[in-house]
Amino acid sequence: MLRVGYPATISAEFLHEFPEGIELIPLSDKLDHEVEIDVWIPDPYTTKAMRTWPHLRGVRLVLSLLAGTEWIPGVVGPHVTICNARGAHNVSTAEWTIAAILASLKYIPLYFDIQQSGKWTRRFEASAHYTAISGDTRQVYPPVLHEELTGKTVLLVGYGAIGQEIERMLAPFRVEMLRLARTPREEPKVHPVSELDALLPQAQVIVLIVPSTDETHHLIDAPHFKLMRQGALLVNAARGPVVDTDALVEALKSGRIRAALDVTDPEPLPEGHPLWTCPNLLLTPHIGAATPEFSPRALKTAADELRRYMKGEPMHNVVQAAI
Ligand SMILES: NC(=O)c1ccc[n+]([C@@H]2O[C@H](COP(=O)([O-])OP(=O)(O)OC[C@H]3O[C@@H](n4cnc5c(N)ncnc54)[C@H](OP(=O)(O)O)[C@@H]3O)[C@@H](O)[C@H]2O)c1
Repeated sequence: MLRVGYPATISAEFLHEFPEGIELIPLSDKLDHEVEIDVWIPDPYTTKAMRTWPHLRGVRLVLSLLAGTEWIPGVVGPHVTICNARGAHNVSTAEWTIAAILASLKYIPLYFDIQQSGKWTRRFEASAHYTAISGDTRQVYPPVLHEELTGKTVLLVGYGAIGQEIERMLAPFRVEMLRLARTPREEPKVHPVSELDALLPQAQVIVLIVPSTDETHHLIDAPHFKLMRQGALLVNAARGPVVDTDALVEALKSGRIRAALDVTDPEPLPEGHPLWTCPNLLLTPHIGAATPEFSPRALKTAADELRRYMKGEPMHNVVQAAI
């Protein structure tokens, strides 16, 4: 019988999608003995999963509940097949992205601060913010108190499962869409990553939704911030290391751009880190996937993959094939 180890933190009631003919073994991150399993579903929190791994024996297949699996190959080595949960994050992470874009363009962080202060007249701080971040010094009357997304140009850096979901959710806003990925293609037009420099100056909103790899490390660095339009909004829903943090802090402090981040480098972001107090920044502490609907969806993705594995069928989400 196939032995499948899963995080003990996941309630057994969520495991009903798993196939017959397996033994489900709950794994604590405080194991003090060896456990023999064939398939490992790591805890979504990397530090907990790393504590469990040294006690596991016999693992041939890893079924991650996350889309980003960058830490796993280095830990389990090349003789283990690794699958991610591609697709399970689409809705939650795409919704976060839309919320972050709208919250930034509608100045929600500023208005929440005004609400806390109980001072209605502070609303005109929004006009000063608009002038400073946009560079638009025209005398607009009545004064600008928020901005519109409709009709803006959005650059999607990464056009995989989540990138495509973001595009679907942006459709009602009639945005001009620019797409960039590793592999260029037509219909819809997807530009190669070599065209990043040419595309950046065209976009008012830039969304990062690529995996963290050697190639995407600091994909956005100091020269790229100089190529962005004044007041462009950079949204990082991908992974922190895709952006050079020092260059980002400088670009935010200088008022060149604004940003919305769900991910940072380093993570967790330590207390006192300059990013916490940067102007023009909306920051959430890596929440992109974690809705009530996510966990059942990710477990179903893993269960479907396991069913294919047991039948000897090709699996859908292999990110590393065992050698
Ligand atoms: N904030 C969160 O909580 C959260 C939640 C879920 C996922 N994520 C992150 O989002 C990432 C994307 O997820 P996904 O499910 O959309 O993955 P996916 O379906 O594998 O798509 C990845 C996209 O990135 C592109 N890409 C890969 N390497 C690239 C490079 N060097 N330069 C330019 N583009 C490159 C791919 O290009 P091709 O199309 O040409 O292959 C593809 O379009 C995950 O890896 C994870 O790090 C974050």
